[in-house]
Amino acid sequence: MNNIDAASHMPDNADTRLLPPDAAGLAEAARLLRSGALVAFPTETVYGLGGDARSDTAVARIFEAKRRPRFNPLIVHLPDLAAARAVAHFSPAAERLADAFWPGPLTLVLPLRPFARLSPLVTAGNDSVAVRVPEHPVAQALLRAFGGPLAAPSANPSGRVSPTRAAHVLAGLGGRVAAVLDGGACEVGLESSIVALDPPRLLRPGGLPAEAIEACLGAPLANPGDPAVPLAPGQMASHYAPSAQLRLNATSPQPGEIWIGFGPAATGADLVLSATGDLVDAAANLFHALREADALAGPDGRIAVSPIPEHGLGRAINDRLRRAAAPRN
Ligand code: TXA
Ligand code: MG
Repeated sequence: MNNIDAASHMPDNADTRLLPPDAAGLAEAARLLRSGALVAFPTETVYGLGGDARSDTAVARIFEAKRRPRFNPLIVHLPDLAAARAVAHFSPAAERLADAFWPGPLTLVLPLRPFARLSPLVTAGNDSVAVRVPEHPVAQALLRAFGGPLAAPSANPSGRVSPTRAAHVLAGLGGRVAAVLDGGACEVGLESSIVALDPPRLLRPGGLPAEAIEACLGAPLANPGDPAVPLAPGQMASHYAPSAQLRLNATSPQPGEIWIGFGPAATGADLVLSATGDLVDAAANLFHALREADALAGPDGRIAVSPIPEHGLGRAINDRLRRAAAPRN
């Protein structure tokens, strides 16, 4: 993998392999994914940047590769409804939509199952999860060859348009992803529609028309902007915070604080994001550390966190920490 600190390190497309979607290519892609590497793959909507959704490190690498300044929750891709039921709780409305539109360009945001064993980075530490069963035969074949859930945002650098061909992925992420499975052009070309349920609301318009979703539900979809609509899980996700008070940029703890350390300077920290100062490791450990510190600190406790450099994944880590530390109301 590339070093995220190395803005000076020019990505080299030769580091990224273009794999054909045949048996050998799929087996190699699955092997790479099992090793924790990233593989971009076609879906009917856009190409996804896939990593093992159960691996903290693989998911941290997704954010690193995209240079995402925030830990937005990611969509978990599964081969079928039965596999999706293992990670999310399906209400009757959710079952109805899945029956009607899966496999296809629909993502459902549902309650996370307690023992889903997904990395907390996938859900941004929250209790809801976005699940989708893609229809593209290469995506289907990859999910079955890999045999687990794949976290996959669109395979473009953060803030750029989604890729609909393997060449687009190489242009944006060449050198930052182990391989791209070449499945040709994506049919839909627009990201999946994202629906949260109970009550039903459209979090993102996409490849499946809202009218089709409403017809299936027999009810109108609310938009997240509507004042009558409760906060969408994604929005709440971005406000996940420990119950303890957080103090940032702490070079040493004050009495009574649980100290989350980063780097070699943080000797004596109660919990360590990365002893060597590796930002991928730190991102992978972040949500675990916040939860553990919260448990150690107890009610009305206080947590101190070492300074994290404001570059590479450090920006996303700091964004999350600043929001966790913001005054509550
Ligand atoms: O068509 C697609 O959906 C493509 C292909 C690869 O499947 N994926 C995609 O992922 O567009 P991404 O990461 O670019 O967009 C996912 C959106 C983000 O806006 C994210 O905030 C939202 O889904 N999302 C993911 N998990 C969520 C959750 N638990 N609650 C609310 N929103 C969620
Ligand atoms: Mg995207």
